Amino acid sequence: MSNYAQHKVTFLPDGRSVSVRTGTTLLDASRRAGVSIRTRCGGVAGCLMCKVCVSDDQAASLHPPTTAESYKLGASLLDEGTRLSCQSRIKGDVTVTVPEDPLKAAIRKKLAEQQEDDWWK
Ligand code: FES
Repeated sequence: MSNYAQHKVTFLPDGRSVSVRTGTTLLDASRRAGVSIRTRCGGVAGCLMCKVCVSDDQAASLHPPTTAESYKLGASLLDEGTRLSCQSRIKGDVTVTVPEDPLKAAIRKKLAEQQEDDWWK
């Protein structure tokens, strides 16, 4: 396979996709696709904010975890399919899931609780 091969990367839950070259990181692909993945370390496996979920059947479309990624995530998260998007390099068509932003999740939960309270009044 050529180093210039293109691969389709799809980000769930948005369903946005982009075509990128072999070796592109998931983080770079997300930016090109217009998908927001928060980061703080600049993509050096320092902040752990760029986690994405990769199912077993999609894992072979990414290069294996780097030493830095393995060290930072640990065996348990890696076994669950968690990868750092800044370290994960693409080598085939792949679909990954971006977890909901923790702040958005907290707001959504609060709104749901308020709606439930209002319903009982
Ligand atoms: S961007 Fe900080 S760990 Fe990936």
